[in-house]
Amino acid sequence: MAQVAIEHDLLVVCDETYEYFMYGEQRHVTLATFPGMWERTLTSYTFTKAYAMSGWRLGCIVGPKQLLEPLRKVHEHTASFVSPFVQAAGIAALDGPQNHIEGWGLSCETLRSVVAARLNSVPGLDCAVPQGATFVFPRYSANYTSAELGTKAPALDDNQESPALICSAQGVDRAHLRHPERTTKCSSVPP
Ligand SMILES: Cc1ncc(COP(=O)(O)O)c(C=O)c1O
Repeated sequence: MAQVAIEHDLLVVCDETYEYFMYGEQRHVTLATFPGMWERTLTSYTFTKAYAMSGWRLGCIVGPKQLLEPLRKVHEHTASFVSPFVQAAGIAALDGPQNHIEGWGLSCETLRSVVAARLNSVPGLDCAVPQGATFVFPRYSANYTSAELGTKAPALDDNQESPALICSAQGVDRAHLRHPERTTKCSSVPP
């Protein structure tokens, strides 16, 4: 194929969706690695097969700069639109009843008060009560590890066995705050 492409001065699109699916004695070799092929080849990869991510629309193209630049221009105007079924869902959402929004808003308002109050009950955490949205940004000034921090919050009530603030012992950057009715997340708690 390389010989034909070079002989006829062709550009090549090489689809490597199945690069890891070679059987028996077969070994994978990609076309762009052949002499004279890099500058005329765009190679596409997808997450669909090797990572079982079909429907996620994730992939990439590898190639020389001079071929990628026009590709970007085309891609910008063809692939970044909203999928038709999502557009249909948007119309249904706007045309349908809206009365769930007020209930959700009230529920979130209660939740943010509970979350901020619980965070503020933990020594070393200082959390402004959010005026909107669904995030809290607690300031952390103490020197506890995540695991230690997880033991600091007092229980919500006498019947609750587990601490309200749960952090990973591995020190991930996220904490989970337990509410009587649901669990929510707050970010920005350091390991
Ligand atoms: C040869 C080949 N290329 C590309 C694709 C498309 O992959 P994606 O789902 O990432 O669009 C497929 C999917 O079956 C395929 O078989």
